[in-house]
Amino acid sequence: MELQFTLKGSFKTSADASPAKDVIDAFFTEANETILTKGAPEGEGARIVEWDIDGDRINLVVKSGKHVRVHDALLRVRKPLAAKLGKEFHIGVRGIDVESYIIELPSEKPLGELKIPYVSSIVYDNGIITLTLDVGESELENRVPDRILKLMEDKIAALSYGGKGEHWEILWESEKKEHVFSGDPTKEMVKQGWLKRGASRGQWIHGAQSTRMFRTFERIVVEELLEPLGYNEMIFPKLVPWEVWEKSGHAKGVYPEIYYVCPPKTRDPKYWEEVSDYYKVTHEVPTAMIKEKIGDPIGGMCYAQCPPFWPYLQGETIPTDEFPIKVFDRSGTSHRYESGGIHGMERVDEFHRVEIVWAGTPEQVVAHSKELQERYLHIFNDILELEWRKAWVTPWFMAQEGLDGISEQGEIGTIDYEAPLPYRGDGGEWLEFQNVSVNGNKYPSGFNVKCQSGDELWSGCSGVGLERWSSVFLAQKGLDPDDWPEEFRKRVGEMPRGLRFL
Ligand code: SER
Ligand code: ZN
Repeated sequence: MELQFTLKGSFKTSADASPAKDVIDAFFTEANETILTKGAPEGEGARIVEWDIDGDRINLVVKSGKHVRVHDALLRVRKPLAAKLGKEFHIGVRGIDVESYIIELPSEKPLGELKIPYVSSIVYDNGIITLTLDVGESELENRVPDRILKLMEDKIAALSYGGKGEHWEILWESEKKEHVFSGDPTKEMVKQGWLKRGASRGQWIHGAQSTRMFRTFERIVVEELLEPLGYNEMIFPKLVPWEVWEKSGHAKGVYPEIYYVCPPKTRDPKYWEEVSDYYKVTHEVPTAMIKEKIGDPIGGMCYAQCPPFWPYLQGETIPTDEFPIKVFDRSGTSHRYESGGIHGMERVDEFHRVEIVWAGTPEQVVAHSKELQERYLHIFNDILELEWRKAWVTPWFMAQEGLDGISEQGEIGTIDYEAPLPYRGDGGEWLEFQNVSVNGNKYPSGFNVKCQSGDELWSGCSGVGLERWSSVFLAQKGLDPDDWPEEFRKRVGEMPRGLRFL
């Protein structure tokens, strides 16, 4: 069976519409062949299949497939019907009542327990999901049924590729290398006092040596890539409110990994006095009491780094010769609630990244992605001398919205940079240590940014993960500067000595 919509409802009228019966009959018969089929393939429009007049109501049953959906059908009919009843009979159309709204859609499998707004029941039987919607006129006008259908279709699609994992396709691979080191770099760094675990989950305190590594990587990126390519440094906010994630798409799926931010309900010290008093007496922070005194989450801590840049361009029309725009941010941490268990520095809840963002016409954005890739190739081959590869993967923005697969357009998508970690053995999983992405028009369109010429705008971004670069470099080269490539040693200088402890 194919997708089917059935709506039972009525137009409320200002008086008994019985005198207009013949006119309504003629109008509905004609509508079934005209306004309810417009835009649909032959025979696939919506149809008013039953109707009658019951006092000040015109009851009707409408059926449709996916083209002109039943709610669109009602809305298409309303105005011309009101015009007819008004002119000839002085009867007004007061509104729409929905008695029942049912969507039946095919699915090979049931979707399990779900709680979806405006959906009062979901029943699976014999290859068909039947959704009963609880909607009124304003939900019809706001196209809520379309969003519910889209959500269900996405869930059904996810069932069929679920388990296959993310998309992955190799693009380029360096030659194999002999590695001088086969230890777990995090363990070795801890042992040699380069860093220590922080007090929070998945967090590290970077000592002098580890920090020197990060700063050297940053300097390499600045000198070899950002400066030659004409980038300007900016400072992006690190607390991201929902309105940014609504526009970036993160509001669709990032919830399991956010560190949420809640402001106090008031900053009146009196209001908080019982919390401090409780602590002073018990030496325990009363978290339940605090929960009562803070507001709803306003958003979360920085997650993807580039979304909070976009309000800077939001709503602007930018002179054509400003493009391509090239900016980067390295002003703070990103936070992700990672899976539990003990991980090293390669998987952390708090991390450091240089985020590189560019925007321009589609041609500019694609061409610039290639320039970046050339610079990265130079850095990884000639300075860090890594074993690494590039792969075409599920775009980060799709993955972060909870979607799988690849984007439809060949040029839009993410390239992951991956490297083997010798301590994990030959068959061990390679670590993704950065990405380069062409994000299409998603951001300019989500944040309503325009180019003076009227040309379409695209953007791209690239995240340089410093924990990841360190993990890869140290896993392959070890911690002894004597074993490091000359070009890197030159830039890192004399490694500082960390603190000693007794
Ligand atoms: N914003 C991109 C990401 O989150 C690149 O850093 O992966
Ligand atoms: Zn980004």
